[in-house]
Amino acid sequence: MRKWRVGLVGIGRGSGYGRLFAEEPRCEIVACCDASEEALARFQRELELPDSQCFTRYDDFLAAGPEIVFLGTPIPVHADQTVAAMEAGCHVLSEVTAASTLADCQRIIDAVHRTGRTYMMAENCIYWHFVSQWKEWVQSGRLGTIVHAECEYLHPIPSLIFDRETGKARWRTQRAPLHYCSHSLGPILEITGDRITRAFGLGNSRHVLPEGGIGAIDMQVALFETASGMTIKLLRTSVLPRRPNIHFYSLHGTKGYVETDRGGLKGPGRLYVEGEMESDQAIETPLSDPSLPESAHAGGHGTAEYILIQDFLAALERGTKPRIDEIRAMEMTAPGIVAHESAMRGGAWLEVPSFA
Ligand SMILES: NC(=O)c1ccc[n+]([C@@H]2O[C@H](COP(=O)([O-])OP(=O)(O)OC[C@H]3O[C@@H](n4cnc5c(N)ncnc54)[C@H](O)[C@@H]3O)[C@@H](O)[C@H]2O)c1
Repeated sequence: MRKWRVGLVGIGRGSGYGRLFAEEPRCEIVACCDASEEALARFQRELELPDSQCFTRYDDFLAAGPEIVFLGTPIPVHADQTVAAMEAGCHVLSEVTAASTLADCQRIIDAVHRTGRTYMMAENCIYWHFVSQWKEWVQSGRLGTIVHAECEYLHPIPSLIFDRETGKARWRTQRAPLHYCSHSLGPILEITGDRITRAFGLGNSRHVLPEGGIGAIDMQVALFETASGMTIKLLRTSVLPRRPNIHFYSLHGTKGYVETDRGGLKGPGRLYVEGEMESDQAIETPLSDPSLPESAHAGGHGTAEYILIQDFLAALERGTKPRIDEIRAMEMTAPGIVAHESAMRGGAWLEVPSFA
């Protein structure tokens, strides 16, 4: 059987993906990389690799000859690392979001065109089991025409932005709440197949963690309009209190609506379809595909990362575009960059570029 030579960069997310790639019979892990010596030593132990396959320098890691590079590094370095990997002949599976500037989004697209390598953004939330169920309902017309959607990701992680004990700024000081939009917009765009054309954002106060840069803006809200004329509202915080932290999604159509629980995805969602039921009904919003074994949960978010890897490998083996290719990745990344820019201007409708 053909085995893909896989290299992993960045231990935080590389660990979960490492476990899944290690279990995958079509893959072998041939290299790992982390800029921190200490993190690399932990990575090496977890992956059980010899010294000769572990690197702190990214160039040395690429020289080890991986065919697939998984990027689990901070967002600001994604574009440089993607371009370098593709120029070294590798396919790239990159953590979210794709990049933190529109120019870097374009650089990634240009690298795909120049090198012919495959790029996929690892937006795991679109692989949650309930998202595929909702997609079927929407695509079959059960909810009619979708005219509005809402999504929220409220997750306080102040110490990952600025460590008050050491006085150390982390990379997330550079990540505005709205920049981290793909966990929220990704499922909505996946379910509807739509694309965002313009964006409006607000939110620039920093009461909770004033030293945390744009990453510690208390809360940001964005409104989007899509190519089909649908509206989307997104709410994001990385600092305001929220227990438990939540992802929230709702879709409103001409024949009904569906939404997740206000207390998070563990609680029951609601579904109403005109003509099918008197009033809305409680529904489960499972993250995992019940048909998959326990080992498929190793990625950390139900079975999402397992299915994502299967999808990525299938695209490579078929020679087709993956589900979240370079264009779709930017359609799930750029709206947040533009909405944050709008917020910095005090709120203005701004065009979201079309990357197609
Ligand atoms: N999909 C998800 O559910 C999910 C969850 C958390 C984080 N993320 C994403 O994963 C990525 C990493 O986030 P994290 O929380 O693990 O960050 P982190 O800061 O905890 O870990 C990043 C690791 O990358 C290493 N690193 C930094 N710069 C490097 C470089 N130039 N070359 C090699 N190694 C480098 C660091 O030493 C660190 O070990 C980000 O894109 C983030 O948005 C995704």
